[in-house]
Amino acid sequence: MCGIVGYIGTKKAVPVLIKGLLSLEYRGYDSAGICVLNNNVLDVVKDKGRVKNLEENPELSNLIGNIGIAHTRWATHGIPSKENSHPHLDNSGKFAVVHNGIIENYTELRSMLEKNGYTFLSQTDTEVIPNLISYYYESKKDVLKAVSLAVTDLKGSYAIEVISPYLKDSIIVARKDSPLVIGIGENENYIASDIPAVLNYTNKFYFLEDNEISVIKKGKISFFDSSLNPIAKDIKDIKWDATSSEKGIFEDYMLKEIYEQPQVIMETIGSRLKPNEKCYFDDLDIDLKNINKIYVVACGTAMHAGLATKYTFEHFCKIPVEVDMASEFRYRNPLIDKNTLCIFISQSGETADTIAALKLAKNAGCKTLAVVNVIGSSITRIADYTIYTHAGPEIAVASTKAYTCQVVLLNILAVYFAEVLGYESKELEDFKMEILELPAKLKLILDDTKNIQDFAKEVYTKQDLYFIGRNTDYAVSMEGSLKLKEISYIHSEAYAAGELKHGPIALIENGVTVIGVATNPNLVEKTMSNLEEVITRGANVMVITNQVIPDIKASCIIQIPKCTPMLSPILSVIPLQLFAYYIAKNKNLDVDKPRNLAKSVTVE
Ligand code: G6P
Repeated sequence: MCGIVGYIGTKKAVPVLIKGLLSLEYRGYDSAGICVLNNNVLDVVKDKGRVKNLEENPELSNLIGNIGIAHTRWATHGIPSKENSHPHLDNSGKFAVVHNGIIENYTELRSMLEKNGYTFLSQTDTEVIPNLISYYYESKKDVLKAVSLAVTDLKGSYAIEVISPYLKDSIIVARKDSPLVIGIGENENYIASDIPAVLNYTNKFYFLEDNEISVIKKGKISFFDSSLNPIAKDIKDIKWDATSSEKGIFEDYMLKEIYEQPQVIMETIGSRLKPNEKCYFDDLDIDLKNINKIYVVACGTAMHAGLATKYTFEHFCKIPVEVDMASEFRYRNPLIDKNTLCIFISQSGETADTIAALKLAKNAGCKTLAVVNVIGSSITRIADYTIYTHAGPEIAVASTKAYTCQVVLLNILAVYFAEVLGYESKELEDFKMEILELPAKLKLILDDTKNIQDFAKEVYTKQDLYFIGRNTDYAVSMEGSLKLKEISYIHSEAYAAGELKHGPIALIENGVTVIGVATNPNLVEKTMSNLEEVITRGANVMVITNQVIPDIKASCIIQIPKCTPMLSPILSVIPLQLFAYYIAKNKNLDVDKPRNLAKSVTVE
């Protein structure tokens, strides 16, 4: 979950690397460092703290040179400290390495190296890598060979960049189970763990695959397999606009991304869904007649998108749907076979648990379909089929626009499946029209946020909050609760409203805050009765609804536009995102970079 940047070219490396690191801080932000190769010397500046500290470090001005690697860290092995920060050098000071991932066998490698006279300065797993390269270099006298031998010894996951005076005019990179892209420039090239880090400079990328190594010079990029046989690669054109990864007029990325939702949902709908036409997905030729079960597997917010759309698949396609967390699915021998369709949802396309679950499903012979935002990411390369959300780069750690795009796209997919299976109906046609109306309805919610801001101000000092709802309102409650935890550090839980009486109501007393989501006309009365029950016991309540509700003593009622319950999470999540956002702002917290969290979790 660390961020990696690299540069080789004619510009000074440091400003490019700093800019890249700043845009990658969502991957980790407890330490940062840079190494530049200049006049055959590796100069390193690194320390704990944010990239801003690094940027302000006076020693940085000594780093002149046009070849450099940089890193922003999310600590796994060893506390955030100067010693544990990357880049790490080998004992001879001739190899500098930055690494994202986890080396599982680092203890063994470390003792082997110690037996051979190497010493270690940090508690990290990474420090074995430059020393291992140095160890092999001793006998091979060839850096590429040494890197290739070193990575063959590594167990676990890695994306690494290596620079060395022995290389002079190249950076060597390698990856396994951690993302790495190479951005192509004119007489210069860029390396990054995520596209947005270098989107300012290029739209043309190579994606390094597992077990591949690349030698990057300013005017040439070569690729090799693990045995160092040369391989060819296609360039991918990334259509994201560089300004889409900048904050613009907004104070934070999260707020910007919340406000982008009408636009990105429109783009996600694209030409896949049009009035009076059948839904269309390029190259999606799954034989649905033989599918008797759908598993939706993902992590965090992406998993919540699965929960919010299970109802649509079951309702329109008549196929049972199970939604599971990737971290559970991968270890529980799920009952899946060639008649199961497994759908994997991921914003980044790099989440380690989701990738492992996907591999397991493929091995079991299932059809696998990925719903991903980042083009060319690992998951898209493993799954049988991929469909993309068009959310653009999502920078804030807490996911907002990716979630709504996922929910929209999965709903369209359900419509497509229903049409392929021959379940056409007037209800399905009306549903399609409702999808097309979503962006305008979202705008209406975003235009009037005063009540949400006021309620956030009223309750931001609370320690506990509860979210309740039924069916899709329950699914969206889970997402609202997660958003709040992630960025405000307030404990919160989401309950199916009908479950309150089976335990959690014991926690309700004077002043406890409860958020009720009630958008389903068939269930609104029931949820409102549950809210009455908590109000009677002293709870302070906010209701999000699009129904006519009884006159209850709620502190805040947010009316959102009407829509079918199957689509309501796309609308009702907006007040919940804003609520979490304003609570965190009232608490003066860094909403974009919440403590302990990283945007893309590429380690288990
Ligand atoms: C992390 C992020 C979450 C995200 C989850 C899954 O925990 O902080 O916001 O929902 O990973 O990420 P993915 O990229 O697979 O959607």
